Amino acid sequence: METWTLIAVACLLAGLLFVPARQRLALSRAKHPSLAGHGRIAQFLAARLRGYAFDEADFFRADKAPEVVVCARRQGFEQLVECLNGRSRTTAAVSASLRPQLSDLEFTSAYRVPFPFSPYLRSRLALGSMVASSHDGEVEDLDGTRFIDLSGSYGVNVLGYDFYKSCIDEAVARAHALGPVLGQYHPAVLFNVEQLRTISGLDEVSFHMSGTEAVMQAVRLARYHTGRTHLVRFCGAYHGWWEDVQPGPGNPVQPRETYTLRDMDDRALSVLDRRKDIACVLVNPLQALHPNRPAPGDSTLVDSGRSAGFDPTAYAEWLRRLRAVCTRRGIVLILDEVFLGFRLAPGGAQAYFGVEADMVTYGKTLGGGLPVGVLCGRSRYMRRYRPDHPADICFARGTFNAHPYVMCAMQVFLERLATPEVRALYENLDQVWNERAASLNAALTAAAVPVRVANMSTVWTVLYTQPSRYNWMFQFYLREAGLLLSWVGSGRIIFSLDCSAERFATIVERFVSAACAMQQDGWWYAAPDVSNRDIRRAIRNEMLSRWQMIPAHAASDR
Ligand SMILES: Cc1ncc(COP(=O)(O)O)c(C=O)c1O
Repeated sequence: METWTLIAVACLLAGLLFVPARQRLALSRAKHPSLAGHGRIAQFLAARLRGYAFDEADFFRADKAPEVVVCARRQGFEQLVECLNGRSRTTAAVSASLRPQLSDLEFTSAYRVPFPFSPYLRSRLALGSMVASSHDGEVEDLDGTRFIDLSGSYGVNVLGYDFYKSCIDEAVARAHALGPVLGQYHPAVLFNVEQLRTISGLDEVSFHMSGTEAVMQAVRLARYHTGRTHLVRFCGAYHGWWEDVQPGPGNPVQPRETYTLRDMDDRALSVLDRRKDIACVLVNPLQALHPNRPAPGDSTLVDSGRSAGFDPTAYAEWLRRLRAVCTRRGIVLILDEVFLGFRLAPGGAQAYFGVEADMVTYGKTLGGGLPVGVLCGRSRYMRRYRPDHPADICFARGTFNAHPYVMCAMQVFLERLATPEVRALYENLDQVWNERAASLNAALTAAAVPVRVANMSTVWTVLYTQPSRYNWMFQFYLREAGLLLSWVGSGRIIFSLDCSAERFATIVERFVSAACAMQQDGWWYAAPDVSNRDIRRAIRNEMLSRWQMIPAHAASDR
């Protein structure tokens, strides 16, 4: 009898242990094998990597190029320095004086290129980060030097800077009578709410001051209403900079209630289907361009392994399956359209991919040029209290929420979005931009340079077809050619929909001539038989030789 009891207890224990172990295994299998899929490991490694910098000699020969190539690079670099430093002296000087006082600028200046190259580059290239005016797709720095802007202002610029200037002018006039009165609402709010309900197909709206805040509120509400703890995000996806959506380097405290799963993968669906602790799934549809990879910045462009490609049909199918599993399991599906909303289609990514989310976040361009974050959701998820448990509330406030000037700029934006002139910009959008990408690729092929582009409508990324440690130099050749990128460099180029065929032709001309100049200057020299893998191995060895068992900050505490 005793033996049978023991066996029964043992079976029970084994069963109890087996279920969590199986779930744990399923979770592990649903994680992307890259470091981006393993935030804790990535942070552990990042904290122990000691910085190192190439001196003047190694800056030009990190790939052990022969002397003749090194000479060409030096010459090319001197010309770049002369041109870029020479034509924007005031801009560079004012930027330099601002840098140590403005931590954002201090950071972005240091992380434009892979870190070993950064100190020497910064000691020679006096890059300006200030502009005084914008007009018709161009910006002008403090010295009067003009650039075609390809930065897209982090995605805000969907319809052209002049469009937003006039939205703001009109908003100022509309909001003037009320001024900055907060706590009560400007009548524009009613219009905006009605429009946003129609566009999103959802019941309620809340206004916030940034995309990050809108996402925070979406997740908080999902947790509140489901009573579950965890959020799921997909590997590489950006959802703002707050703790729970940013595992890995960049966030000193690793989130405990976040699962980072493989994008577009059945293993992720099976985790969603089995676990009981998942409150919501966050989807940034921009990942369709590079599933499972973080935003492609030049600071991590250490070889030519960057890849991208957009398959709208496959992504729409993935969203459909995700929707089905979320519905089945009562998981809140949150589509984060802060970046892509109003860029792919006037109805946003929901309309474009044909998916209905439970909550949608918007931001950036929706503010008509002013800062904003918006959350739209089904009533059952947006309610911040329980009538039957009045003390159990889900709190969210913000001093500047629904600021009258922002609300008026949003109203103007939404009004104009419905006009035939703006609607016309969305006609055949994919066809126009796919053809433009193809034409640039054809020109790059004809010029025999190892550069190509991939695109998701007006969001482009530059790919490099031949193994090289110097691809990041391209951003400076583009700048020399009068094309301005954001600080993340050539990984992200963002066009506005109003870019004319003539302007695009100018961009192609400048882009190709920049690539030719860079090639001539020897930066794309590749030793025979050297692969991207060889480059990565060499870098790994460089790093390992500086490996530190104890993280730098812990070491300095001792
Ligand atoms: C998809 C997505 N979500 C959220 C955010 C955060 O928005 P914000 O920078 O306004 O806080 C961004 C910003 O780039 C984004 O692209």
